Amino acid sequence: MAQRRILHDEFFKKAKAEGYLARSAYKLKEIQERHRILRSGMKVVDLGCAPGSWLQVASEIVGPKGLVIGIDLQEVRPGLAENVHTIVGDIFKTDAAALLLDPDAKFNAVISDMAPSTTGHGDDAISVRLCRRVLELLPAMLAPGGSCVMKVLEGGGYPELLKDCQRLFAKAKGLKPKASRDLSREIFIVAEGYKAPAATPAAKLAKPAPKPGPGWGS
Ligand SMILES: C[S@@+](CC[C@H](N)C(=O)[O-])C[C@H]1O[C@@H](n2cnc3c(N)ncnc32)[C@H](O)[C@@H]1O
Repeated sequence: MAQRRILHDEFFKKAKAEGYLARSAYKLKEIQERHRILRSGMKVVDLGCAPGSWLQVASEIVGPKGLVIGIDLQEVRPGLAENVHTIVGDIFKTDAAALLLDPDAKFNAVISDMAPSTTGHGDDAISVRLCRRVLELLPAMLAPGGSCVMKVLEGGGYPELLKDCQRLFAKAKGLKPKASRDLSREIFIVAEGYKAPAATPAAKLAKPAPKPGPGWGS
């Protein structure tokens, strides 16, 4: 009974009442309130997007002129807004080109709530590996000046990861939203002002969304 009370906390109930697919929606909402990383018309990619509450929040903010692309190992149920497109895939086996749709228009923001599917020993190391993969994809994916939000489980690899983000972005810090459970070791790195590598061709800002190809959900 106590366990049920903890799982069905105020954010769980609020998500149900407000039509969000998961309580995680309020983590992104708080990050957005504090940092304003997303804006109308932006092109955003959500890595590890299922069941889809971050897709919902991002879609509301970027609006009909924006675009939200999501990828997850699991399928996202159809029926989200028209500016949302998802694919099933593993971020380690997917390159930036598969996500971009239009290679000339990089993303303005990369958001990642990815988490290891196991809950046990070594999860923090897997979590850091997922974040490292995000960083690896940035040069091909994120427009100069863009933002990145990613979840990491605090552990041995976290301080170095944060330092690397501070090197790659004008500013980066760790944030623990109120909707994060007290017992959770998760923290969100919020990084703004991407310093794209010199070799990366200058990216255009978000353009109208190209039509998604076969295999894409919406
Ligand atoms: C906490 S959930 C994301 C919740 C989501 N932000 C929302 O608001 O609905 C973490 C997700 O990361 C995904 N994930 C973990 N490893 C992945 C990988 N290698 N590639 C793609 N997705 C991955 C999982 O399948 C899971 O759905």
